[in-house]
Amino acid sequence: MCGIMGYVGSADATPIIMDGLRRLEYRGYDSAGVAVNDHGINVRKAEGKIDQLAALLEDEPLTGTIGIGHTRWATHGRPSDLNAHPHTDASGEFVVVHNGIIENFQTLREELQASGVELTSETDTELLAHLVAAEYDGNLAAAVRAAVDRAEGAYALVVMSDREPRTIIAVRKISPLVVGLGEGETFLASDIPAVLHRTRDFLIIEDDELVTITAEGAIIETIEGDPVEREVMHIDWDAQQAEKGGYEHFMLKEIYEQPAVITETLAGRLDEDGTVWLEDVKFNDDFVRDLGTIWITACGTAYHAGLVGTQIFQRLLRLPTMVEYAHEMRYADPLVKSGDLTVAISQSGETADTLAAARLAGGLGTRLLALTNVVGSTLSRDADDILYTRAGPEISVGSTKAYLAMLVGQYLLALKLGAVTGAIDADRAAQIAQGLKRLPAQVETILEETDDIAAAAAMLADADDVYFIGRGLDYAVAMEGSLKLKEISYLHSEAMPAGELKHGTLALVTKGVPIVVVITQRSVYDKTISAVQEVKARGAEVIAVAYDTDTEIGKFADIVLRIPETEDLLAPVNAVVPLQLLAYHVARLRGLDIDQPRNLAKSVTVE
Ligand code: G6P
Repeated sequence: MCGIMGYVGSADATPIIMDGLRRLEYRGYDSAGVAVNDHGINVRKAEGKIDQLAALLEDEPLTGTIGIGHTRWATHGRPSDLNAHPHTDASGEFVVVHNGIIENFQTLREELQASGVELTSETDTELLAHLVAAEYDGNLAAAVRAAVDRAEGAYALVVMSDREPRTIIAVRKISPLVVGLGEGETFLASDIPAVLHRTRDFLIIEDDELVTITAEGAIIETIEGDPVEREVMHIDWDAQQAEKGGYEHFMLKEIYEQPAVITETLAGRLDEDGTVWLEDVKFNDDFVRDLGTIWITACGTAYHAGLVGTQIFQRLLRLPTMVEYAHEMRYADPLVKSGDLTVAISQSGETADTLAAARLAGGLGTRLLALTNVVGSTLSRDADDILYTRAGPEISVGSTKAYLAMLVGQYLLALKLGAVTGAIDADRAAQIAQGLKRLPAQVETILEETDDIAAAAAMLADADDVYFIGRGLDYAVAMEGSLKLKEISYLHSEAMPAGELKHGTLALVTKGVPIVVVITQRSVYDKTISAVQEVKARGAEVIAVAYDTDTEIGKFADIVLRIPETEDLLAPVNAVVPLQLLAYHVARLRGLDIDQPRNLAKSVTVE
């Protein structure tokens, strides 16, 4: 999704902005641009990667101490030099970058054209530059206020003008925006990692706020103009965490961080006897005793974590649990009611559909719990209760460590709820706690033994179609394994419950078709073996993910990816790891851009 960067201070703005934009690359983008006040507003922008823009700046440098920058992910208008941000008004004195969508784009476009404005791009953003210019009457903040008053939608907007050459004005309406505070310099960005190496002190801008940024700091007001007091948030993340370390790709680095992530997610929250403390989960025992339905809502990988969560909650708590894609739930008139708990899962905490579904559920009277990785994210601020996954910044678009942390978070939540409802007795709680505490070491062993994974990757590298099967929790893991493979290797891949195979997909299983089976759940083991036999009988090549103690599966599968044995309820944590590595190695063999797969964005902050 689009990235925003801004700087005002006494240093050269261009390299600082470019560096910030590079750190936002993981959000996905198709063009990039900067505007610097270099004896007047000057813009450089280019379709393609940031290197393209860097080359342009080399030929036509910009020098100045105030500027804004942007990486664009096309929504209105195709990716092109012209549609890239920043956009200026006709005079070139007002310049804007913007993240999000202006919904009344067509009306505004017609109004501006009727008033004689010539538009040079296909974007909704350019309209904002013209609106600000038209509204300017000696006060930039007032002009921005008047302009956004005419614009409907969800966005973050950043404006700079030669008329007030030491000021940047920004407005937030849904799309994220943070201010980084330095010594005699101030930064603006769409998220914290962009400037974390320059400052650790941040102001998080909330919805419907306007911020005036100068070298001396930032003044926050509501969009109506009322003053806002905001506490400075000090961020402790290690800047190194956002770097690639020694790994070839962020994705691989993040896969290898998983043992540490599990440890972090559990740290200080789980006793040997299964007692759980969750610092920002505030609901009281009465609420839990009367709990109706648990709703889980999310998109993408977070949804797949929710698929696991549903089964955990149902099995352990014997409470009805529903998992819904957020983009479906928000339009489905769900039967959510007061006394229910909605768990919204989102790595970024900024996914537009997840925020909308969560707000809908909150509005219908449920308690809203955010399971998110990003401190201070919109979802966390909307929620009544927060469970931070503590996975650290995740850069690779394909999510790995955040998923694992989401699973661990849900086990903790189940333990907390079950202790109050009585559904999980003391012995069972202790058993689960000990199982959870063993997971970091177990994942470590999976990461050490990757020969079979390499062989499996070689088997898939030239395939056209791959099918993933499993039952129960194995099915939930198969869904995530399939998504991982599809998104980074561009292989057609589908996951289904093993029992569903013969209701259609079996027609596609012929000699040499690869099937990945996740087979850990003992209660349905024989049933899954039957499905494996069915596909083997048709000449399929089978890759299995199974416990290291399983002596049966080797008779049927061509390659077995072994995972340490756990109780079945905890198996998803280990089982997904070989599938993440498998996807990674297939994409690598196919020579693809693993961390930034085509057409995908890390955080989808528009609908
Ligand atoms: C995008 C990302 C996925 C992610 C999904 C939900 O599609 O590419 O990796 O799972 O959004 O993101 P969230 O931040 O809400 O977990």
